[in-house]
Amino acid sequence: MAELQERTFIAIKPDGVQRGIIGEIIKRFETKGFKLVGMKMLQASEDLLMQHYIDLKDRPFFPSLVNYMSSGPVVAMVWEGKGVVKTGRVMLGETNPADSKPGTIRGDFCIDVSKNIIHGSDSVDSAKTEISLWFKSEELVNYTSCAFSWLY
Ligand code: RTP
Ligand code: MG
Repeated sequence: MAELQERTFIAIKPDGVQRGIIGEIIKRFETKGFKLVGMKMLQASEDLLMQHYIDLKDRPFFPSLVNYMSSGPVVAMVWEGKGVVKTGRVMLGETNPADSKPGTIRGDFCIDVSKNIIHGSDSVDSAKTEISLWFKSEELVNYTSCAFSWLY
């Protein structure tokens, strides 16, 4: 049962919001069968973003990454389902859109690594850390989807 309740943190970055791709991205996770358990739009602070990307703090692109991510509102989401962390990353495509296959989100909707429209947790552990960084527990909803028995 617990494996069916794996969760990942997905964020539509400021360019995805501004380019009007929010619905397209949500649609892909919905129609795949994953369950939305938390969602909010916010203007993320630099502090939050530095914490979120702390593992990249020594990379040369870190300041521009934080600047990009704080340049406009983002849509933060938590999606639930079997294998959602790994499958979510497959749905996103590669970090560099140029290496992302058609059919993936980055492969279909963006061009440059510095404007790659979406974030997804890269492991179950980082998903837990990111979900608790971006959401209070009361902002996440526990419910049973009517599609559950048709998915599993
Ligand atoms: P994300 O965390 O946003 O889902 O992306 P990712 O795992 O695919 O890639 P990661 O290595 O965690 O990099 C985080 C974000 O930093 C930006 N980046 N820019 N200019 C560059 O060479 C470069 N490399 C990475 C991208 O926005 C990337 O998604
Ligand atoms: Mg990453």
